[in-house]
Amino acid sequence: DGEVFKYYSEGEWKKSSSGKSVPIINPTTRKTHFKVQACTQEEVNKVMDTAKIAQKLWAKTPLWKRAELLHKAAAILKEHKAPIAKCLVKEIAKPAKDAVSEVVRSGDLISYTAEEGVRILGEGKFLTSDSFPGNERSKYCLVSKIPLGVVLAIPPFNYPVNLAVSKIGPALIAGNSIVLKPPTQGAVAALHMVHCFHLAGFPKGLISCVTGKGSEIGDFLTMHPGVNCISFTGGDTGIAISKKAGMIPLQMELGGKDACIVLEDADLDLVTANIVKGGFSYSGQRCTAVKVVLAMESITDALVEKVNAKVAKLSVGPPEDDCDITPVVSESSANFIEGLVKDAKQKGATFCQEYKREGNLIWPLLLDNVRPDMRIAWEEPFGPVLPVIRINSVEEGIHHCNASNFGLQGCVFTRDIDKAMLISDAMETGTVQINSAPARGPDHFPFQGLRDSGIGSQGVTNSIEMMTKIKTTVINLP
Ligand code: G3P
Repeated sequence: DGEVFKYYSEGEWKKSSSGKSVPIINPTTRKTHFKVQACTQEEVNKVMDTAKIAQKLWAKTPLWKRAELLHKAAAILKEHKAPIAKCLVKEIAKPAKDAVSEVVRSGDLISYTAEEGVRILGEGKFLTSDSFPGNERSKYCLVSKIPLGVVLAIPPFNYPVNLAVSKIGPALIAGNSIVLKPPTQGAVAALHMVHCFHLAGFPKGLISCVTGKGSEIGDFLTMHPGVNCISFTGGDTGIAISKKAGMIPLQMELGGKDACIVLEDADLDLVTANIVKGGFSYSGQRCTAVKVVLAMESITDALVEKVNAKVAKLSVGPPEDDCDITPVVSESSANFIEGLVKDAKQKGATFCQEYKREGNLIWPLLLDNVRPDMRIAWEEPFGPVLPVIRINSVEEGIHHCNASNFGLQGCVFTRDIDKAMLISDAMETGTVQINSAPARGPDHFPFQGLRDSGIGSQGVTNSIEMMTKIKTTVINLP
């Protein structure tokens, strides 16, 4: 009680000189559960300086040694899964089992990254000059990959651990240093995760974790001249960051409005299972959640009936009880979701369930007969509310999907694989899932969004590549 979790700088746990803290509100109780340090700009400067120095030595550390330390951190992280998961339950109301899965998945991701890194970074390319017109075989070009320097990692509240290590792992194996700014909700879970890296024995200053208010250190971090790469996952803030950041590589995963297109010949039980899991797991607070169902008119009645039957079975309550639907992350988020629901009500959407809210807890809700003039047809609620738009042709569905500002993922359900492939080609999203709900994982698959959904591509291999630069050395023969 009253304890303020320390931040991590120069390999040590420190109190901020600001003397201030930032409260972390438990979404379930809506009371302050933890407090973290409100770091100052001077403390950010210090972290950047040490990150720069530590990186130079780290880049010279043999690749196998970097991998060995990452494997060690992965093992320690898995050993600490229970206390970290407990933080996730209290800070972001993630259902208990999912919280444990997030930590285990993170350990696996780190190990996979270490293995992938030793392979892809351990080999380069060799070119000769005589393939280009007019050249003799007089120049040999050696191509290798070098680190970028200091990587700033900013993960979101919905995966404070997993989306942190998906940045930290690739950055470190590639020889970069890391400055982590965790989301406030989830900061203690992230600090605990950083502690696992500390226990693994990484060099001092290579990894730092600063906490604090976005208004105080957010822009200061993202615009800091010491940062050589930003990897960000989150909402609109990413668009603002991309406008302010310097001439450095950016990796951004922002929002999504993932569409689920359902054709007449689809297996409706399969669709139902995927809509419920895809739309409502972690109460819809995933960028890859199914956020709009575009169903052919002729099968929509049957589909909605099946989905309603499954929605009725979802348990609603506290994350400690491992309920399916748990309180959304904050009061402002709940208010935003409610705004979308009210707008849909006013414009005549069919409520398949009664709208019910207690504090931050919102009961799962399917909205049928949603039309394009409703906000929920386009905006992402990041909550357990799912709109269904009835379509009369596949083209109508594709058009809706492509008219969105977002272009993260989408899915199509049909037994006709030829049609599915054509629809996949026509959908302007980073990924199209055929006969399954959108998802980022497995974590080595490429993951990217078009338009406002992001910049660059993630997934273990792509992130490692993205956090390196090509270096060439040319040998000129006499
Ligand atoms: O919302 C973050 C996004 O990366 C989702 O990941 O694993 O739930 O598909 P996942």
